[in-house]
Amino acid sequence: MRRTVIAGNWKMNMTPAQTKSFITELAPMVAGQDKCDIVLCVPYVDIATAVEAAKGTNIHIGAENVHFAESGAYTGEISAKMLCEIGTEYVIVGHSERRQYFGETDATVNLRTKAALAAGLKVILCLGEVKDERLAGITNEVVSMQTKLDLAGISAEELKNVIIAYEPVWAIGTGLTATPEQADETCGVIRETVAALYGRDAAEEITIQYGGSMNDANAAELLAQPNIDGGLIGGASLVAKKFTAIVDAAQ
Ligand code: PGA
Repeated sequence: MRRTVIAGNWKMNMTPAQTKSFITELAPMVAGQDKCDIVLCVPYVDIATAVEAAKGTNIHIGAENVHFAESGAYTGEISAKMLCEIGTEYVIVGHSERRQYFGETDATVNLRTKAALAAGLKVILCLGEVKDERLAGITNEVVSMQTKLDLAGISAEELKNVIIAYEPVWAIGTGLTATPEQADETCGVIRETVAALYGRDAAEEITIQYGGSMNDANAAELLAQPNIDGGLIGGASLVAKKFTAIVDAAQ
């Protein structure tokens, strides 16, 4: 059976000191929740503090991006090896804000995914349509194409360490949420694409999250959908009570 994964994406929020107090507050609130994996993806400078604060808890720590080269002249970038050495377990790749503001393409998302997997990280691979694509009725084509391009050259064995986060771009940080039916349908399209690439068993095993204004009020309904196996949560992951309510909804 596939795992439910509830992951926070802090984006550019929280200092190391805030990280320590947040995790200290959150840990007892989610202790004993074993029906889903709990992940916090945090800014690079917060990772070491987060790993230390999460020791002995059921909270796993991830990064928000990773470069594809092992090392070299890439000013400002961080390698997978650097992340692993400080205890990072997960990494978000291909978030729409990276695609939108920092020129990420499916080609670089694919390279970053491969580098992260080769280093032993678990990847949360983000994809999703923009508003004009949904209005034009090409959502299914867009997510299917992104799935194929972003996973190109990744083996069935490596795929076991990939989580796909379906995030309709128009729903991120906007307060607009895809309806549970819309989200489930599109996650189903992604699952069918995985089936075409890797076979039915792999498609049934892969965790597909929904992301985009998921919160304590709408999580239960979204997570109840058959094709939605968790959430990638931005805004609501910055408030321990709200994040805990989403984890509870996943039980
Ligand atoms: P949001 O962000 O929950 O604030 O919409 C989700 C995301 O960007 O992963």
